[in-house]
Amino acid sequence: MCGIVGYIGPKKDPFLGIEALKRLEYRGYDSAGMAVLNKEKNKISSLKSVGKINSLEKKFFKNKLNGVPFILHTRWATHGEPTEINAHPHHDCKKKIWVVHNGIIENYKELKETLKKKGHKFVSETDTEILAHLIEEFFKGNLEKAVRLALKKVRGTYALLAIAVDDPEKIVAARNSSPLAIAVNNDEIVVASDAAALLSHSKRIMFLDDGEIATLKKDDLTVSDLENKTKEKEIMEIDWDVEQAQKGGYPHFMLKEIMEQPESLKDSKRGRTIPEEGNVKLGGVEDVKKDLRKIKRIIIVACGTAYHAGLIGEYMLEEYAGIPVEVEYASEFRYRKPVLNENTAILAISQSGETADTLAAIREGKEKGALSLGIVNTVGSTIARETDAGVYNHCGPEIGVASTKAFTSQIEILALLTVLLGRQRDMSIVMGQRITKEINKLPELVKKTLKIESQIKSLAKKYKNYPNFLFIGRKYNFPIAFEGALKLKEISYIHSEGYGAGEMKHGPIALIDKNFPTVAIATTDSVYEKTQSNIEEIKARKGPIIAIATEGNKKIKKLVDDVIFIPKTLEMLTPFLTVVPLQLFAYYMGTLKGYDVDKPRNLAKSVTVE
Ligand code: M6R
Repeated sequence: MCGIVGYIGPKKDPFLGIEALKRLEYRGYDSAGMAVLNKEKNKISSLKSVGKINSLEKKFFKNKLNGVPFILHTRWATHGEPTEINAHPHHDCKKKIWVVHNGIIENYKELKETLKKKGHKFVSETDTEILAHLIEEFFKGNLEKAVRLALKKVRGTYALLAIAVDDPEKIVAARNSSPLAIAVNNDEIVVASDAAALLSHSKRIMFLDDGEIATLKKDDLTVSDLENKTKEKEIMEIDWDVEQAQKGGYPHFMLKEIMEQPESLKDSKRGRTIPEEGNVKLGGVEDVKKDLRKIKRIIIVACGTAYHAGLIGEYMLEEYAGIPVEVEYASEFRYRKPVLNENTAILAISQSGETADTLAAIREGKEKGALSLGIVNTVGSTIARETDAGVYNHCGPEIGVASTKAFTSQIEILALLTVLLGRQRDMSIVMGQRITKEINKLPELVKKTLKIESQIKSLAKKYKNYPNFLFIGRKYNFPIAFEGALKLKEISYIHSEGYGAGEMKHGPIALIDKNFPTVAIATTDSVYEKTQSNIEEIKARKGPIIAIATEGNKKIKKLVDDVIFIPKTLEMLTPFLTVVPLQLFAYYMGTLKGYDVDKPRNLAKSVTVE
């Protein structure tokens, strides 16, 4: 996720901005840049570089820029690849107004067209650049006023900083959904994406809220809303250290990423559902829409958690789009002799976009003439570049090695893809409307589900000494049994296995006794009764059972030892909710055992070797 820093005060050496920017490195980025206003020269100069902040730093030492205010940015690419041209800050036509931005401007294409007609010239592929031009359009000497008018035209999310040569004594900051914190220190003000970048300046911090615009001057800070109504804001004393601040106050990235799923799910679907038409719009596959209509078979290739997401996609796509789907471990697919043709699409799912096996599988599929598609989180990654078309997750960088928010984002994109492909085939508008409306409710439902956190913590305390666990589920929650087991084993090093509940009597039930607990995913759905029978079979063998059930199921309490209730949703969307308690369970089991859950032993975040 992008990082933002801005400074206004007596110091004119932007190196302090570079140091602050380094505190935001943990957020993930692929390029960096800075813009510095020099009042004597009456201009704003910029430096940009691809890759690490060190490259920007080197450029800075060669071309020492001086002046104040200055704004800096680390970019995590969303629109356009990580290049110097796409790196922030971005400027207007006359290079007099410069902005840095974190978030996504949903209506940037329409705005860009309108601005182009008015004569504005664009240089980058980013959505952000339109902000600089839009502000230019309204600028009549007062930057704050121009930002306010520009933001009224914008739909989307932003944390924004703007500076202007012709209104040089201020930085204007604005927030909608993307965070901004402001540190106040006598005659200087520093603003950044989070407190981590600010703590070395001041512990007196003010957090902007959505819809607020702040005007930062060296000795003054005012906050108002889009209607120019002044807001009274509290300045807080923060006693976090830098590491705590980077994790947003959470003890681990894994917990932060689990808890931010309501937001990441919103980000992944932003601007993509059209509920009234019962359809979706996925910009990344627009160019191959005709080919998608023709495909007769999809092979999903992925590894680990992404493979489990693919299995859920298989159920969704077959049930609602009527397309035969196979899901393969990429590591197996690449060495098989797959039978593919021009009517087959091969779909890679990968958070990092760099997983060696998934990349090799895609190359193999392309070699055989299949259309190659990707669901990838990291913009500009190798898989994103090598596939014919694809959909970015836009769920923000995932730092914890255990994949959590990327998983829910992957299944969200698969649900959207199901609607797209379904509507190209037999799916009715009514069904499309039902699914898209329910997808739009998911962030709220996940938020509600997350309230079980303290209950899960108690459960973890109760179960932490069992050496083995079995996870069972059926249909849409069959892959969730795999995912629950994978999370537990990679984080807490407890042996755990996932099974289709129907497979119990074909082997695994032999393991069950009073020392072998089972986590049973038993949502109220088309297969509930079958799962209930499996639960009874386990109970008859004295196996302890934790059930994940749908709220309103009063009977289940009598059958099992512990129950976690999740809200109701469509059967195909239950995995979004059932996985949350399992992520939390793994997290608390791991932390109670004292392990570093963000960096589990023997594992890497990006598996770029076979
Ligand atoms: O970056 P990718 O999504 O391609 O990574 C795939 C797997 O390596 C990854 O999901 C792994 O299984 C995670 N550690 C699971 O939490």
